[in-house]
Amino acid sequence: MSLTNNVPQAPHTVHKHLKLGLFGFGCVGQGLYHVLEETPGIKAEIKRICVKHRGKARPLSEDLFTFEAADILNDPDIDVVVELIDDADAAFAIVKSALENGKAVVTANKKMLAEHLEEIYRLQQQYGKPVLYEGSVCGSIPIIRNLEEYYDNDLLTGIEGIFNGSTNYILTKVFDERSSYAEALKKAQELGFAESDPSLDVKGFDPKFKLVVAIAHTFGVFIKPEDVINIGIDRISDLDLKFARENGYGIKLIARAFKLENRVYGFVAPQFVETIHPLYAVRNEYNAVQVQSAFAEQQLFVGKGAGSYPTGSAVLSDISALTYDYRYEYKKLHQLHDLQFSNKLTVEAFVSFTEANKIAISDFEEFQSGYAANGTQYMVGKVSLEKLAAWSKQDGIGIILAPNAKLTPSRQDKKALTVA
Ligand code: HSE
Repeated sequence: MSLTNNVPQAPHTVHKHLKLGLFGFGCVGQGLYHVLEETPGIKAEIKRICVKHRGKARPLSEDLFTFEAADILNDPDIDVVVELIDDADAAFAIVKSALENGKAVVTANKKMLAEHLEEIYRLQQQYGKPVLYEGSVCGSIPIIRNLEEYYDNDLLTGIEGIFNGSTNYILTKVFDERSSYAEALKKAQELGFAESDPSLDVKGFDPKFKLVVAIAHTFGVFIKPEDVINIGIDRISDLDLKFARENGYGIKLIARAFKLENRVYGFVAPQFVETIHPLYAVRNEYNAVQVQSAFAEQQLFVGKGAGSYPTGSAVLSDISALTYDYRYEYKKLHQLHDLQFSNKLTVEAFVSFTEANKIAISDFEEFQSGYAANGTQYMVGKVSLEKLAAWSKQDGIGIILAPNAKLTPSRQDKKALTVA
């Protein structure tokens, strides 16, 4: 008898074979179909696909498709609803109904999640079925499951990175290849990276939605997307690009959140980055997430953040996780208490504007420098994030955070922090 025969065998996890009902057959839905077909050993098959438009040519047998949500939601044979549609409100209705009907859910809809995460958390508890959404935050980067499992007891102090593929693609093309902004955006749309309403990308809403989801798994707080400030890349001018090139900077749209005492701060804004910055080299539709933890310190995850197959692969990983009954436990929610979200920050920024006297030195908490070139004025200094947010909504004003910008709680919040 060989020695190995006496070694006790680890018990096998029994993987279920899952039947999937898919909502949506656009960029990500088709990507999922492809990665599912190409992945041997996955114990899941698509039983039905619900789509909106009749008469559209589709590459699969007509029998697979339905136009009635009930054909999936009321089918007792379907175990998992995979929600990959565009409309956030309709997506939430599908998720809710799927849970009520005893089905697990996989979704990549960041807007829907950001708007309803707390309710989705409660619905999971109420109906005892999981909702997984790895594909919703930074496409193929496995960040949610890492925050939940690997960092389950770690003291995370911050999370930041490039959370939107389209804007990173556009910035790469206009910066490195000197494409026009319009051409680069069109290409991002053609490649299936951009949202159907691309203002969600370029105005920084999409990375904000992802940040809201990431904050729940990093710090255990549910926040409303409307409470988080987002400044986009849509007002970045040729002069900003020239300034960046002349000073050896890149420009990145950065989503960030960090914890300070009992506050969580978070926002999205473009920033000049030096060549040695870890995000400088992240190009095209790649995303990056840098996690800051008390003991492991900085760790950087990089991967494709948009596109059919990369996002499809994250959705597939969630489906696979359901074959062994994985669910998020929202561990931080039970570990951290009394954390409050705040955007009362003072940040260091470059503010450009074309209309004279639009912005005054006195608007800054600490004015550092100012100059004028080619009909544009620049002011650099420390200013409140809320003021920057208000300026960012006005035509003719551009905002980019300074390289290594210092972020400090505003006087108001400092007071609150010391009083608390
Ligand atoms: N429009 C999104 C992006 C798609 O460009 O990152 C992936 O979430």
